[in-house]
Order: sequence, then structure tokens, then C-alpha cells
Amino acid sequence: MPIRVTALTEADVPGAVRAIQVAFADDPYNNWVFDKANFSTQRNAVSLAIRCRWGMRNGIFHVAKEEGSDQVLGVACWLKPQTAGKPQSWADWLEDWRLWLNQVSMNLFYGRGGLIVNRYYIWKEAQAKVQSSVWTDPRGYYFLNIMVVVPEAQGKGVGRQLMKAVTGQADAEGMNCYLESSRDRPNMQIYGRFGFRFAKELECDDEGTAIKLFAMVREPNASPRDN
Ligand SMILES: CC(C)(COP(=O)(O)OP(=O)(O)OC[C@H]1O[C@@H](n2cnc3c(N)ncnc32)[C@H](O)[C@@H]1OP(=O)(O)O)[C@@H](O)C(=O)NCCC(=O)NCCS
Repeated sequence: MPIRVTALTEADVPGAVRAIQVAFADDPYNNWVFDKANFSTQRNAVSLAIRCRWGMRNGIFHVAKEEGSDQVLGVACWLKPQTAGKPQSWADWLEDWRLWLNQVSMNLFYGRGGLIVNRYYIWKEAQAKVQSSVWTDPRGYYFLNIMVVVPEAQGKGVGRQLMKAVTGQADAEGMNCYLESSRDRPNMQIYGRFGFRFAKELECDDEGTAIKLFAMVREPNASPRDN
């Protein structure tokens, strides 16, 4: 199927939110960080829409659609490389506050929607630890923050096209890429096809209820590999 990869627009936000919710419905990280008995799909949709709009302004947020269709088949959200030690700009600082205020308003209106808050912070801590040891390039990394393809379109090359839109740019600039996969199989194999290598495990342990995430790095022009 001929696929178009374009920048996320406001009109795409509901489709992007749906794609993320459907593709992550049984994701190991989601199952750990949310109390399923109290999970609110509506609150989660509002939270993802806030994240999409933040990504539209601050990151690289792409959607994949079949030629001639408006249905979002896949989504990729990347954070741009941050030079180590470079102070945050005022614009970025304001954007962080805007994101925080939007999230606080959402929590006041919808509650936590099943989010197990201490687990979110356990993950952030594990992430910071792994990134500080894996991110050795002071020029920073293109960080693949979200990547999904809806189940009915998986395995048909949509993910490859979404991935190429940014790895191609990273290759041209000689920059590294980074991601955290919430599954070892099959995702580490899939990301290996795009040149990512396994770097380190993120251990997230909430008093014995634990999950592992898998940090992966891709050097510029990396060849496909087995992980
Ligand atoms: C991971 C994901 C984004 C990949 O997108 P996709 O469109 O299914 O991937 P593609 O069809 O472009 O395949 C990419 C490569 O992986 C290979 N591949 C696809 N599925 C595979 C599988 N189950 N096992 C091993 N390899 C696989 C393909 O052969 C292809 O390699 P090639 O181009 O060298 O032949 C998608 O499967 C997905 O959304 N999964 C559920 C949500 C998720 O886990 N997201 C990532 C969170 S970390």
C-alpha cells in the first residue's frame, strides 16, 4: 500500500490518539503504570492529545496514512537532540510550564485515571540513570518517544517508513538515535532491522512488581542487525 508520512496536524490529533491507544492496549509498560481497574480511556485520550500538541510544537511528530485516506495508521514522535550542558532556552522553559499546567488542569478535571503515580516516578528515575550512562555523545540523540502502527497495518512496512523519515535525517547529520522498547520480542528484532542495537535494560521495580524496558541506540548509517 502506498504510504504517506507527514507532520502531525491538529486534524490528525484524534486519529493519532486512537492509534496510540489501540496499539498500546496491551503494552507491558502501560499495564504496569496504570491500575487497569481504574483506567479511564477518556482521561488517557486527553493526556495523549496534550502530548501530541506538545510534540507538534516541540518535537518531530509524524503520522502515516495510506495515500488518499485520512485514517492515521501509525505515529512516531521524536524529541530533538539536546546538546549536553546547553542551558534550556526561555521558549523551551515556557513550553515545559505549558505542558505541566495542561496536565495539572487535566488531573483536576479527570483525576489520575488509574495512573500509579509512584511508578511513573520509578520509571523516570530508571530512565535518567540509563540515559546518563548510554548517552555518551555530547551532541545529543534523536529520541524516539512514541512509535506505533495500528494492529491491522503492522508488518506491512508502515513502521519502516515512519522510522526512515527521521533516521534518514540523523544519517545526513551524522547523529545518533535512541529509543526505549517496552518489549524485547519482537520489538528488539524489529528495531534491529532499522539498525538499532540493544544498549541497556531499564529496571523499574515497585516493591517486587517489576518490568524491564530495553534501551537501544542507533549510530549514523547503521546496518540492520540481530538483537
Ligand atoms: C513496532 C512497530 C511500530 C513496527 O511497525 P510495523 O509497521 O509493524 O513494522 P514494519 O512492517 O515496517 O517492519 C519493520 C521491520 O521489522 C520486521 N518485522 C516486522 N514484524 C516483525 C516481527 N513480528 N518479528 C520480527 N521482525 C519483524 C519486518 O520484516 C521489517 O524488516 P525488513 O524491512 O528488513 O523486512 C509496530 O509493530 C507496533 O506498533 N507494535 C505495537 C506497539 C509497540 O510495541 N510500539 C513500540 C513501543 S516501544
